[in-house]
Amino acid sequence: MNAIAVNPGRKEVGVVSHPTPELTRDIEVKFRMLEVGICGTDREICRFDYGSPPSGFEHLVLGHEGLGEVTEVGSDVSTLKKGDLIVPMVRRPCTSEDCTPCRAGRSDFCTTGNFTERGIKEQHGFMTETIVDEEPFLCKVPESLRDVAVLMEPLSVAEKGLEQIWKVQNRLPWGLESNGGLPSGKGKTAVILGAGPIGILGAMAFKVAGFKTYVYSRSLKPNPKAEIVESFGVPYISALETNPEQLAEQVGNIDVVYEAIGTAVNSFDVLKVMGLNGVCVFTGIPGYPKPHLTFDAELIMRNMVLKNQVAIGTVNASRQAFDWAIRDLEQFMKLWPDAVRAIITDRHPLKDARNLLLGKATGIKSVLEIG
Ligand code: BGC
Ligand code: ZN
Repeated sequence: MNAIAVNPGRKEVGVVSHPTPELTRDIEVKFRMLEVGICGTDREICRFDYGSPPSGFEHLVLGHEGLGEVTEVGSDVSTLKKGDLIVPMVRRPCTSEDCTPCRAGRSDFCTTGNFTERGIKEQHGFMTETIVDEEPFLCKVPESLRDVAVLMEPLSVAEKGLEQIWKVQNRLPWGLESNGGLPSGKGKTAVILGAGPIGILGAMAFKVAGFKTYVYSRSLKPNPKAEIVESFGVPYISALETNPEQLAEQVGNIDVVYEAIGTAVNSFDVLKVMGLNGVCVFTGIPGYPKPHLTFDAELIMRNMVLKNQVAIGTVNASRQAFDWAIRDLEQFMKLWPDAVRAIITDRHPLKDARNLLLGKATGIKSVLEIG
């Protein structure tokens, strides 16, 4: 079957012929890929900055944001059947007995660094026709989410980010838990940096979680991303028009900064104006270090101390975060179906993947339509 792969040794990106997998173990599930989203990580892998093929292969099949339909299940599979829609998780655990997180199903906190990631690190990804994977890594998706479920993986990143915020803010005498014991952002303000897919989905998740939510992003209004964001009631503020100090003046105490831009200076410039007891969550992965970056480190450190602030990074997502993503995506579709659909700006056949991966990113979320 055809697959889209990178060959880092030969510096090649394109279609390869890849063996069609078969079920070999009873807990395995075979599925045909329906859609795969393209993200910044894929583009970075295509620049050969990141990503590594599985052992024994020169190429790595790309793609980690998948949606598939089950075609066959092994005899020990109990939660999935033929015809079910599934979204596969990305990370697979390391094999060390000493890695408590991996042994407990939390490979997103792997302590050895020997985890693998489908389509990214030492495991083939989803930009192909047929996949075999193990039941525990496949999340069943309701049929009603068929046309937007490819957004689940990027949403799972925001869900893990929120989980981390609840945990971190439990350090405060009153936490953030004010909604009958359930974590809630009620009465708190969140600023989302960036209006890409992770930013927009993050804005939806924070709004649903009760935060007064703002998106702070570069481009001036009007622009399509701002339109989507404002269509679900989140004000969009352009960084070209409003500097971080003015932002803080406008929105009041910033309790949470959720970073989804992947560039350091812009992020630290906002960290500088974060409020009392605030928490900043980084999700973006900057490229290689650029020389001569300057930001106000002294002020940030002073604030972190005088304002009890925390900055944390978050990567990947747990099984539970995927389940929260399903729950939230259903909720978003009830509240703002047009906005959710508008995040997927363009769909293309698999054969166009190379141009999409190597060309300039247009649109918001580009998706490959496979099956
Ligand atoms: C993926 C994560 C992955 C991370 C680092 C992101 O694009 O969404 O699942 O852990 O890249 O490889
Ligand atoms: Zn991604």
